[in-house]
Formats: sequence, C-alpha cells, structure tokens
Amino acid sequence: MAKGGLNLLLFLGSVREGRIGLRVGKYVQNLLEQRSHKVTVLDPKELNLAQVVKPLHFHKNPAEAPEILQKINKQIKGADGFIVVSPEYNSAFGPALASLMDHFPPASYSYRPSTIVTYAGGALGGIRAAMQLRQYLSELTTVHMPSMIVIPNAPKTLDEEGVLKAESGDLVKSCTKAIDQLEWYAGVLKKGREENPV
Ligand SMILES: Cc1cc2nc3c(=O)[nH]c(=O)nc-3n(C[C@H](O)[C@H](O)[C@H](O)COP(=O)(O)O)c2cc1C
Repeated sequence: MAKGGLNLLLFLGSVREGRIGLRVGKYVQNLLEQRSHKVTVLDPKELNLAQVVKPLHFHKNPAEAPEILQKINKQIKGADGFIVVSPEYNSAFGPALASLMDHFPPASYSYRPSTIVTYAGGALGGIRAAMQLRQYLSELTTVHMPSMIVIPNAPKTLDEEGVLKAESGDLVKSCTKAIDQLEWYAGVLKKGREENPV
C-alpha cells in the first residue's frame, strides 16, 4: 500500500554494555530507509528515562510534565507506525523497552501498527519475548503485525554496522514480508485516521 514516505519510530529495547540491540536496530532501520521511510530511533540508553516513576499521563496537567516526555509523546502521536526491537532476557522482553514505552499512555499508540523485532544470542531468536510483546503491545493498543522479524544468533548474523555477515535468505525474506505488511497497515490506518479522526 504505502510506498515510502512513512514516519516511523523505532524503539530499542536494551541498554546493556556491548548490546547487540544497536546492530539489530541499524539493520532494520537500513531496510526501512531503503524504502524511503523516515525512521526516528528512540534509544532507552540515550534517553535515560530510567524506571517509570511518573508516566506522562499520571501528571495532573500533562503540559507540566518533563519536556522530554512531552517531546516523545508528540513523536509517538505523530508516527505512522512503530518498530519494536527487543532482546530476550530470561524468556521475557527487555525491561528497558517497557521502561521507555510505559511512560506514555496507550491512547498515544492507538490506531497505529507495530512490528515486533526480537533477537537473541541463541537459536530461538527471542521468540518467547516476541509472544509476550504481542500481549504487551495489544495493551498499549497499537495494532501489532502478524508477521514478525526474529533473529537467531544475532551477534554472528550482524556486524556492528547492522550489516549481514553472510547471506541469509530466510531472514531477508521474513523482513520483506514483515515490512510489506507494516507498510500496508500503516497506509490503511493513516487514511482511516484522516477520514475518521479519533
Ligand atoms: C539477563 C539476560 C538474560 C538472557 N536470557 C536469555 C533467554 O532467555 N533466551 C535467549 O535466547 N537469550 C538470552 N540471553 C542472551 C541474549 O539474548 C543476548 O545476550 C542478546 O545479545 C541480548 O541483547 P542485548 O545484547 O541487546 O542486550 C540473555 C541475556 C541476558 C543479559
């Protein structure tokens, strides 16, 4: 549906020293930019919002909330879709991801699609984290896409610039399918929001 021109937010989900999440983020960002989409990365390490002490929507007057929360909330509400990149830690998705996303109300994410991207050092690619993310993203009321990107053996698969170390037809194929789907839903939902403002 939408060919290029989407405004996308990519959430990273780890803050660990030597994290592989940066490579995964760069890999997916490159694929999206090759299709002429604008990708803004929200990195929990850089943003350093830390634990959720007081989310935006718990401020009596959200206009008085810290500027950084207001800025990110505007970015979320202005996005056409989300890419949610998470490691698997103890069969769960990354706590840094939830710490970042939980700062904002579900209503800010509503009527926008999200694509789940998980990775792990092992062979399962974070699939258990991905299953949890489906439930979590439903609660945040974004429309999560049926097709996901799951990257096993991530440190061996991607170099530090997020480039594939060796040909991986299966991964490329799953990325193509997931991004095609995100584009379709993002285009349809964007039109829907314009025609039926919520
Ligand atoms: C606390 C912790 C728990 C982990 N648990 C799992 C796990 O349950 N399943 C798995 O496949 N890998 C697990 N791993 C390995 C990670 O998937 C791998 O280290 C990955 O690179 C982590 O992402 P990051 O480098 O962006 O932090 C774990 C790593 C850490 C640090």
